[in-house]
Amino acid sequence: MRNKAKPVKVRPLISAERIRRRVRELAKEISRDYAGKEVLLVGLLKGSWVFLADLVRCLEVPVQVDFISAASYGSRKESKGLVRVDLDLRARVKGRDVLVVEDIVDTGFTLKSVLQRLKRRRPKSVRVCALLDKPSRRKVEVEPDYVGFKVPDRFIVGYGTDFAERFRQLPYVGYIEEEG
Ligand code: IMP
Ligand code: MG
Repeated sequence: MRNKAKPVKVRPLISAERIRRRVRELAKEISRDYAGKEVLLVGLLKGSWVFLADLVRCLEVPVQVDFISAASYGSRKESKGLVRVDLDLRARVKGRDVLVVEDIVDTGFTLKSVLQRLKRRRPKSVRVCALLDKPSRRKVEVEPDYVGFKVPDRFIVGYGTDFAERFRQLPYVGYIEEEG
């Protein structure tokens, strides 16, 4: 098999075991907060699917699951906050308790734009659960209600997050080691 991708070094940051424990804690908290309700989980593709798959299996409240695929365009370094939606959710949002599930909140542009879009459809409530939060990079005011881990300003990969579509399958969270 040919693989032209350049070798990149990944340094472990959060072990699979720590993630597993934290996902269970988050699920407990969410199940407590939404007791007696049905939650519409909206996963942001593609990054959130691994986290979402583990999270739903720990939740103790009834859920429905849908997805939005959104991407900010322009380079990551000079993001201008332009967000394009490639795939919209199909579920009806009006009157529902919506929980957006995200892999990592960085500048906040993606999340803010998705939240504005959802709120126009008059949900009963909207909250956000992000596995990872990189608060030092935030450009717009947006705070996830549930956060798994705060991470430093590194390029994060694994457990759903990618570097040019690679490393999503890693069972742990790591970061790309800078060269030199
Ligand atoms: P935003 O800057 O908060 O809009 O982040 C948008 C998206 O970029 C997130 O949903 C992630 O999918 C991706 N992203 C941000 N930081 C990283 C990272 O360190 N590694 C991998 N993906 C990232
Ligand atoms: Mg994402």
